[in-house]
Amino acid sequence: MERVRIVEVGPRDGLQNEAQAIPTATKLELIARLVAAGCQTIEATAFVSPKWVPQMADHDAVLRALQHEDVAYPVLTPNLKGFEAAVSAGVREIAVFAAASETFSQRNINCSIAESLARFAPVMEAAGQAGVKVRGYVSCALGCPYEGEIAPQAVARVAQDLTHMGCYEISLGDTIGVGVPKRVKALIACVTELVAVEKLAGHFHDTYGMGAANAWAAYQEGVRVFDASVAGLGGCPYAKGASGNVATEDLVWMFERSGVETGIDLRKLVDCAVWMSSQLGRPPASRVARALQG
Ligand code: HMG
Ligand code: MG
Repeated sequence: MERVRIVEVGPRDGLQNEAQAIPTATKLELIARLVAAGCQTIEATAFVSPKWVPQMADHDAVLRALQHEDVAYPVLTPNLKGFEAAVSAGVREIAVFAAASETFSQRNINCSIAESLARFAPVMEAAGQAGVKVRGYVSCALGCPYEGEIAPQAVARVAQDLTHMGCYEISLGDTIGVGVPKRVKALIACVTELVAVEKLAGHFHDTYGMGAANAWAAYQEGVRVFDASVAGLGGCPYAKGASGNVATEDLVWMFERSGVETGIDLRKLVDCAVWMSSQLGRPPASRVARALQG
């Protein structure tokens, strides 16, 4: 049977932009419920500056509380300082995050694309020595909130650089959800000239409701790893207009009903989506959760 791997990013991408303070205990319960639903990879938090992203300030407490041997808990690390803090909290996998847009790179991590890659180099080296796996992100893969259109070749170059530096997987981020299936296919065709499709993941924000359609387009091009956020939570604080990731339950519904295994229990996932949304005082953003709830 065909299979995809879902990377649940709700506890990080889903919550990083949330205006209300979310207790660490709530984040940990969210993660426990995701594990119970069958999620095998859960991006747990971000070791970024608390001045830049206050919602992730409890990264140390979150990561230290996570013990499951059979679940991967990658965390974002923008530099060596974040990496070292993550290692002391017991990290086994990290993600470095670059962009295909110079302006977004400046606004998000306060440096150029080239500077960001130079900053990642010692992180990659230290991760190699510590036996920590590294995933790479390329943001603005289908458009930038500041520069508009981004050439697929620019995405491909950064993806290739990250691969050469040692990232085992490259997640192509449609940060503001402006992609549509035809453009997704063109992007994958261009990137796979430089990076094998087996190394790619799709990270689609659902701003215009195209997240699931874009994931399916990428699937048809051979991509088998997809990032998603339970209940469709999320957005990037440095990308105005970015709404949540495609909802995990939307992807699970779409893939399982198409005969593609995800390993995730849809009923438990929807219960988790409804529970987390109630913690935030709003209904789940996803149509699938609303259709199946209760
Ligand atoms: P900077 O201000 O240039 O950093 O920020 P700096 O090196 O000049 O240091 C300034 C201060 O920050 C110092 O503290 C450092 O110690 C501290 P001070 O002396 O002023 O008290 N600092 C840190 N503190 C904690 N953890 C760290 C760290 N590094 C420095 N790792 C920096 C540069 C990269 C730190 C900052 O810009 C930052 O944290 N940015 C993160 C922004 C972010 O998290 N954005 C959201 C995630 S990306 C995303 O959502 C897109 C994605 O989902 C894919 C997609 O959708 O496209 C992945
Ligand atoms: Mg994102």
